[in-house]
Amino acid sequence: MSAEGKAMAARRIVLRDPSRFKDPHGLSWEKYIAMQARERERYLAERAKLPPEALEYKLVEPGYLERAREQFVNNYFPELCATRYIATCVCNAPFEELKRCAMFQLLDEQRHTEMDREVLERAGIPEEEWLPLWQQPGTTYRFFQHLLSLDEPIEIIVKANFVGEGAAGPASFKVLADGARARGDLLSAVNHEARIRDETRHITYAQALVRACLEDDPANLAVIQEWQNEALTLFSDVAKGGVRQQWWEGFVGSYYKIAGPMGLQPTPISFPQAARR
Ligand SMILES: [Fe+2]
Ligand SMILES: [Fe+2]
Repeated sequence: MSAEGKAMAARRIVLRDPSRFKDPHGLSWEKYIAMQARERERYLAERAKLPPEALEYKLVEPGYLERAREQFVNNYFPELCATRYIATCVCNAPFEELKRCAMFQLLDEQRHTEMDREVLERAGIPEEEWLPLWQQPGTTYRFFQHLLSLDEPIEIIVKANFVGEGAAGPASFKVLADGARARGDLLSAVNHEARIRDETRHITYAQALVRACLEDDPANLAVIQEWQNEALTLFSDVAKGGVRQQWWEGFVGSYYKIAGPMGLQPTPISFPQAARR
């Protein structure tokens, strides 16, 4: 095997004892369906309280839609990509417990995609502008393209759920919801609030998976460290070369609170000096 081949092989994690991983929520198909039916009812009740003008984006403050376009595509495309990379995890899952978690997540991400698509449509942003907006520098584009290029489920779940969603954290959806509400964007606020529980669950099962991998073989720590470094380096595009450095530090700070005690070290990321504020 070539040196490169060996490095690639070493980066793969195989959980030798799959019984180490347990879905922290203990979800069966019946429990999942019942839980999501309740969530759906709650969401529809919240949505029904919105005045019709909110759904037509007539209540937002002036200039809001122009500024929010980038945020909207940065919500929509990651959810859309999530349906695809998590479907890869369902197909390639090495054991049933992980397959089930990924399957439930696939259903969650599909709903989130639909909610975000509706925001873009109701805000009147022409569909041909969505992708070019997301492909600009300073978005999550490169990170999600990388996730779509992978086919190993454990690597995808570590990078996407543990690092990506873990850094974004349930708190960031609360911040997005509060920010949207303060600017009169009530539909986005209700949508963000409706996904907090799902996203928290995706992060929690990924944490359980990381713990299982570390218990199974402490040498897996080095692989997970490398995956974290790759994921955060790509995600740091969102810090816009350091212009949003303060925001970035708060963002990764919440992730390190969880990753640090597991033995993971912060990823060194440097932004161009000139861009710092
Ligand atoms: Fe989602
Ligand atoms: Fe998610």
